[in-house]
Amino acid sequence: MICIGLEGTAEKTGVGIVDSEGNILALQGRALLPDKGGIHPREAAEHHAENLVPLIKKSLEEANLKPEDLDMVAFARGPGLGPALRTVATAARSLALSLDVPIVGVNHCIGHIEIGRLTTGCQDPLTLYVSGGNTQVTAFDSGRYQIFGETLDIAIGNCLDQFARTVGLGHPGGPRVEELALASDNYLKLPYTVKGMDLSFSGLLTAAIRKYESGAALEDVCYSLQETTFAMLVEVTERALAHSKKSEVLLVGGVAANQRLREMLEVMTQEHYADFFMPEMKYCGDNGAMNAWLGLLMYRHAKNLNMADTHVIQRYRTDQ
Ligand code: KG4
Repeated sequence: MICIGLEGTAEKTGVGIVDSEGNILALQGRALLPDKGGIHPREAAEHHAENLVPLIKKSLEEANLKPEDLDMVAFARGPGLGPALRTVATAARSLALSLDVPIVGVNHCIGHIEIGRLTTGCQDPLTLYVSGGNTQVTAFDSGRYQIFGETLDIAIGNCLDQFARTVGLGHPGGPRVEELALASDNYLKLPYTVKGMDLSFSGLLTAAIRKYESGAALEDVCYSLQETTFAMLVEVTERALAHSKKSEVLLVGGVAANQRLREMLEVMTQEHYADFFMPEMKYCGDNGAMNAWLGLLMYRHAKNLNMADTHVIQRYRTDQ
């Protein structure tokens, strides 16, 4: 089977084509880059409306396929920005109806994990998913995905982006914060806010902004912000690793681009004699292939269960 996957939970419009063997035949995407401020949900929706059709055409060209070669359509149902989700869901439905093929709505977070498993070869990981909109530690356990820890307020990427915007570094902030952090090793105390297995970044963000506004060097604040938030992420991942008894750690999401986070996570993973995995960056951030692949897995599993309607399926991992 050949599945086309549409992605548009936030600012990135993504289209991917994957076959049931797990071959990624096409991967196209375009991110909205706001002139100032963050991502506005309406602007994200407009961006998807403008870009989906051209990206679908480009994907078909890349895969050397015709529309009638597609056997299935998958799209991310959420979590994400409401207007953006609606636009992509409407496009997915129109495409599936016009091609007369099945449609599967998938969970965006699980899409990240499954494309991570496909492209790195890891089998049954504990996953740290860090992006602009999500921060979660998850593992497949007792027949379903369990969240071991997550943010109680904003996501780590959002924290870095908001900090960067406030101090005039522009969007996206993560890469700029990382660059400036490299120029410092002067740690300024910031609140360390791990709450049980969960995380909180909003108070920490305010404290970092106040430090800068009260005269601290920007490089020192960037360094301290990274060291504090990443130590928090690694702590929760470490405890989840001990609890879940997994032997693999998978890092996914746009913030995975950060070298310092990777380094810290790799050290912790090695100390637990576990293996560390991270997909290539093109599969780490939001992309259409992840939805296509998860859609195929869910569809295959539903078929195995003789379920005609594949819309709501919690258990689909055929290897468990
Ligand atoms: O997964 P992703 O592409 O999509 C969204 O969730 O929107 O992640 C984007 C996030 C942004 O918050 C961006 O600042 C962050 O990933 N990011 C980074 C780096 N590169 C991108 N954060 C830290 N360090 C980086 N090098």
